[in-house]
Amino acid sequence: MTKLDENLFYVGVKHPSLEYFDVIVPTDMGTTYNSYLLRGEKTVLFETVHNDFSEEFIRNIEEICPLSEIDIIVCDHTEPDHSGSLGAVLSKAPNATVYGSAPALKNLKNILNSDFPSVVAKNGLEVDAGGFTLRFLSAPNLHWPDSVFTYVPELKTVFTCDFLGCHYCGELSDGDIEDREKYLAELDRYYKYIFSPFAAAVKKGVEIIRGIAPERVCSSHGPVLCAHIDDVIARYDEKASAAPDPDLASVFYVSCYGYTALMAKALAEGMRDGGKTVQVFDISNTDKATLAQAVSSSSFLAFGSPTLNRDALPPVYEVLSMVSAVADRGKPALIFGSYGWSGEACANLSERAKGLGLKVDEELMKVCFRPADEDLKALREKGRAFVS
Ligand code: FEO
Repeated sequence: MTKLDENLFYVGVKHPSLEYFDVIVPTDMGTTYNSYLLRGEKTVLFETVHNDFSEEFIRNIEEICPLSEIDIIVCDHTEPDHSGSLGAVLSKAPNATVYGSAPALKNLKNILNSDFPSVVAKNGLEVDAGGFTLRFLSAPNLHWPDSVFTYVPELKTVFTCDFLGCHYCGELSDGDIEDREKYLAELDRYYKYIFSPFAAAVKKGVEIIRGIAPERVCSSHGPVLCAHIDDVIARYDEKASAAPDPDLASVFYVSCYGYTALMAKALAEGMRDGGKTVQVFDISNTDKATLAQAVSSSSFLAFGSPTLNRDALPPVYEVLSMVSAVADRGKPALIFGSYGWSGEACANLSERAKGLGLKVDEELMKVCFRPADEDLKALREKGRAFVS
């Protein structure tokens, strides 16, 4: 437990050993699950923590007061890293009412599989928390449709859950961070994985935060922001404003014997002839952050795989999983690959890409074993036509 202000306490937990968040997000600096307790005439808990840390979390709260004194629990977002301990808290907090958006309360009822006293935190709702005001501000898709911000004007403090947070288990306050470069790298990675699919929502979130001009941002991962709020907001704003480059194409492939690699090279040559800047990625030799960045920043995408076991190889599906069904929707995509027997990889990749909302070229570029000169010529022509 740490005191942030006369009436505001940090009661979150640290998870420094976490290597991946949500299975796929690398967390080299671990993470924290932040929660805050406001003690006025009423007691308010903002967010809970991951279920694995319930006991530690409850001990942190009990350093300040018995849970039976909690009047209000604010759930700004309900992903279980923030709602996982709610059941444990509620079992010791019989007087608490949960505030969350309508989708948040629906989620919570399905997470807890039980009912509990609740109030829908509609946009603009103000609640008197005994000397402090809770002003709820709708901020959907940051990072789920359930998300809201809660502003306490008396403290000039806003609670944002994931928004402006970061998987960084270190100093409690951003003003104390010693290795700022490392922190910013994690901040950027967090944005990339969590928020890049929601650029329009991020722009609205930035507008809300700028409108209230808080002096403290209490997110639910990483340090509390006090010293560099404007910098972090500007960083989010800049990333959300960056549209895909209309002249950038990216070709992603894996290749067992170099045949699909030859196809990738020929397609890229054709795309360059068509006037585009083309990046070619051998997926096996490229880190995931680079691949994810290439997917989001490109306006044309091509995916290539040989066929093995009647399917494409898993690394290509992994890159497809980086495609946002929201932000990347409608981008033209081209599928290609060498095969030896029946060649199902291209059709399977095509179906997956269509399911993600990509505009897949109906002509699947398949070559049996090694592409001959006429195949390479056709691939160059296809690459040029694809981007034209
Ligand atoms: Fe930290 Fe979307 O949960």
